[in-house]
Amino acid sequence: MEIIHIAAECYPVAKAGGLGDVVGALPKYQAELGHVAKVVMPMYRTKFLYANDWELVHEGDQRIGPYAFHYSIIKEKTNKLGFDLYLIDINGLLDREKIYGYEDDTERFLAFQVAACDWMSKWQHSPDVIHCHDHHTGLIPFMVKYCFEFRQKLADVPTVLTVHNAQYQGWIGWDKYYLLPPFDSWKWGMLDWADSINPLASAVKCAWKVTTVSHSYLDELKEEANGLQDLFQYEVGKSSGILNGIDNQVWDPLTDTMIAKNYDKELVAKGKKKNKKELAGQFGLDPEKPLIAFIGRLVGEKAADLLPEAIAQSIYQHHGNANFLVLGSGDPNLEDKLDQMKHQFGGYYNSYIGYSEPLSHLIYAGSDFLLMPSRVEPCGLNQMYALRYGTVPMVRNVGGLRDTVTDMGDWQGVGIRFDQASVEDITYSVGRAIDLYNNKQELYNWMRSHMMTIDHSWDSSAQQYIDLYKSLK
Ligand code: ADP
Ligand code: GLC
Repeated sequence: MEIIHIAAECYPVAKAGGLGDVVGALPKYQAELGHVAKVVMPMYRTKFLYANDWELVHEGDQRIGPYAFHYSIIKEKTNKLGFDLYLIDINGLLDREKIYGYEDDTERFLAFQVAACDWMSKWQHSPDVIHCHDHHTGLIPFMVKYCFEFRQKLADVPTVLTVHNAQYQGWIGWDKYYLLPPFDSWKWGMLDWADSINPLASAVKCAWKVTTVSHSYLDELKEEANGLQDLFQYEVGKSSGILNGIDNQVWDPLTDTMIAKNYDKELVAKGKKKNKKELAGQFGLDPEKPLIAFIGRLVGEKAADLLPEAIAQSIYQHHGNANFLVLGSGDPNLEDKLDQMKHQFGGYYNSYIGYSEPLSHLIYAGSDFLLMPSRVEPCGLNQMYALRYGTVPMVRNVGGLRDTVTDMGDWQGVGIRFDQASVEDITYSVGRAIDLYNNKQELYNWMRSHMMTIDHSWDSSAQQYIDLYKSLK
């Protein structure tokens, strides 16, 4: 099959979070299964762009409303990521340093989607499926079906939407509808939700199939989806959950070049000790104490706002018997707070406010526990990386965390689970972690080596997507 993934992120080209990891890995595993997988994404000014060789494959002219633009499509020459990678260059709109966060993001991603559809509509053949990821590419299922310029060539091509995160929907006011390519005006309802153009809702309506990145997340979306719950209930017939996998080649403690000491499950105790020593040295922590880490976006969804109080309470209530380390960026107030706390709790707590891929690898390898108190977690990859690196995940019972982490009190449990995103539940779980680390050595050793044998690679989920595409033929 020929599969076209269209997305805003793809590791290692450009990544802001798990979406990038998924789009950088799933196509590779699909290619390994014998399919032609292509990724189409915006050309940002990233290191990857300057460090690789590209060939020009197409140029075109399009417009968003009255604004004409020229676009070029370049392809990475060596297929080094294991799939065909295409970048869409639109001067002045996409070629920026960051992925998101600009005032004209609406126009940027609209132009990107228009260019992608325009290019595909000029191919001699049609792909077998167009796979869109999240709201940044959510208007494509509508465009290929109802926009006059594209529908003749593309209306019969199956579209799939994967919902990685329904909190963000890409809302566009109806006053900007003129930016869309001309379409059957009586189809406006396929764009609308609650009186605005809602790209995520539109994709849920127009895509042939909808998937969510875990089973539990689909169930949760029917109850709470930032306003789209009725739509998810209504479209349940074409929706299914396919659990994300991880890229076992990028995330392998035996070969990871970003960590201080490589190890596998036989050498987990020694290997982690060395990595922890390195980490503790860098951050002034005590390598003898259990190290509990948090990695992620500092936003409400991740319950990062609870961290300052939960860490302080845990240090007081458990008499400083655990150390904490936070790696993250996001809400500026929270960034400040987590940074300032270093002075108050030196020797027990430290943080790195910012984004660092190498440090994240060292933390997965060198910490003993990884805390994820998320309020919403569609899938979550961190806990799967933690498992692969022999680090016990401490997770709230939600979304993909519920589907991937079992509690140590249950049969063959490999993690610590709690019910509420609250300071009390986190502090209590920290107590359980300290007890496991100090008093239950045998169980702890078993958990660490057992969790490293669990296969969370993309092998099975990549095939599930293929089966889904085949059902559309
Ligand atoms: P989300 O996509 O909601 O942010 P995921 O758990 O799916 O959450 O994926 C997060 C990804 O981003 C992981 O690869 C994680 O290691 C990485 N990550 C998050 N914050 C940082 C950071 N500050 N520095 C480095 N990597 C980070
Ligand atoms: C989103 C979700 C996260 C998921 C990731 C990849 O950003 O917040 O839970 O793992 O997408 O699907």
